[in-house]
Amino acid sequence: MSGCRLKFSDALIFMVALSCALLTASEVSAKDFSKPTVTNPRWYPSYHIAAPSGWINDPNGFSYFNGEYHFFYQHYPYDVKWGPMHWGHVAGKDLVHWTHLPIAIGPDKLYDASGGCFSGSALEYDGKLWLMYTGHVDLPVPNKYGTNRIETQNIAVSDDGVNFTKIDANPVIYVPADKGDISANDFRDPKIWAHDGKFYAVVGSRNKAETVGQVLLFESPDMVNWAFKSIAAYAVGNEGDMWECPNFAHIDGQDVLILSPMNIKPEGKKFLNLQQSGYMLGTLDYATGIFTHGKFDLLDYGFDFYAPQILQAPDGRCIMIGWLDMWGTPMLEQADGWSGQMSVPRELHIRDGKIFSTPVRELELLRGEKVAYENLTLDKAMQLDGVRGEVGELLATVDLTRSKGFSIELRRSSTERTILSYDAATGLIKLNRDKSGETLTGEREVKITPADELRLRIFIDRSSLEIFINDGEAVLSTRLYPKENSREIVFVPTQGALHLKQVTFFSLGEGIAQPK
Ligand code: FRU
Repeated sequence: MSGCRLKFSDALIFMVALSCALLTASEVSAKDFSKPTVTNPRWYPSYHIAAPSGWINDPNGFSYFNGEYHFFYQHYPYDVKWGPMHWGHVAGKDLVHWTHLPIAIGPDKLYDASGGCFSGSALEYDGKLWLMYTGHVDLPVPNKYGTNRIETQNIAVSDDGVNFTKIDANPVIYVPADKGDISANDFRDPKIWAHDGKFYAVVGSRNKAETVGQVLLFESPDMVNWAFKSIAAYAVGNEGDMWECPNFAHIDGQDVLILSPMNIKPEGKKFLNLQQSGYMLGTLDYATGIFTHGKFDLLDYGFDFYAPQILQAPDGRCIMIGWLDMWGTPMLEQADGWSGQMSVPRELHIRDGKIFSTPVRELELLRGEKVAYENLTLDKAMQLDGVRGEVGELLATVDLTRSKGFSIELRRSSTERTILSYDAATGLIKLNRDKSGETLTGEREVKITPADELRLRIFIDRSSLEIFINDGEAVLSTRLYPKENSREIVFVPTQGALHLKQVTFFSLGEGIAQPK
């Protein structure tokens, strides 16, 4: 174990916090959350992971165990708002058809009772599935170090991938505030992995002044005894003042730090969301624990994508799922008894010094009816027979040698539309949701490398769009709240004719249990 242990004064405060928390816990456990609380399915996803009831945020514990993918998520089952965190749980064999399993862990120990079981990760080891998560305790009053919360890292283990036991040795990692410029307040979201016979964990952190985000590295021989290794990397300039949900990945032979920084300031039209998710390519020196890296870039240029977690799958792929929402945004599905959904799983590769994300190939298993067109020249706005829906996948290849500007209106009706547009003069792709439906507005954009064609692959679900450009060169994701009958797709030439090499539309089936 590493870092400082609790002082007696902390322990007293801890007990008060715990009693308050246990009272709340006993109140909520009296409620029956096994009954789905979704009262209106209008925006509930067909194939994205969502909870049967209540609130969800970050992906957690994305792993492969006993022949199945396991995916957990931050969950408050008793209300549509954030509350003391549990880990919701789904599993499945193919990354697209998921089955709900019982809640894996919840707040019930001294070290996690008040705030709950915050984000963390999972790893198969010794025939068991190991979870490492942050136990979060809010102190009713700050202690003498000015700390108003205690975050520690804890382990829960399962033999069957369904029932988890928190180990007696918890907490296994305390904040190493005496080991450098490390805040005692924020210390969360461990991501564990194995390397050369040892285990490693990166944990999100910031400096004492709370101005610089950073990631801490820990090392263990056995998953239970952990030692602080280093401040592996930290923000330089406008890279955020707290790094949440770090992931260490190895993609196409390259080390990558994936992170979710808070409080990056907008730079022109970039970084407009409240919080960001992105990556830094680099090299981790396992001897020193230092990650030497390039600059931060975004993983998704849309409105809603946060706290992604990766899985190094047994077949060698690095697969990422993010929370398809953003803190501080209106989540209108709360009126319907649920809140939050995940992105589709995305496979990561590195090309031209950048991360490319593409939908995992298994998504093709969801495909139903297909409608396809080739070589179309459009002089005016047009709908294509069979190319419409509130759930589906649209593929379009635009001939950029002859098309100078166009837009595609998605989830369209006479009153609503979400507009994806391209302008060859600027090379910008824009996503505008000013008329997308209820409440949400705004625009996001990304510049695309000039080429002879533009390939778009768009995943449409009842309240989301994920737009993959040029085989993953950029992605734009958003939630939206349209009417169920806003199902049209319209192709609009905006600067001369639009030349489409091909357009294909697939209906997509269900991947998650639908509310009855
Ligand atoms: C990120 C986050 C994490 C934390 C969790 C709590 O969205 O703030 O840092 O573990 O959510 O639900």
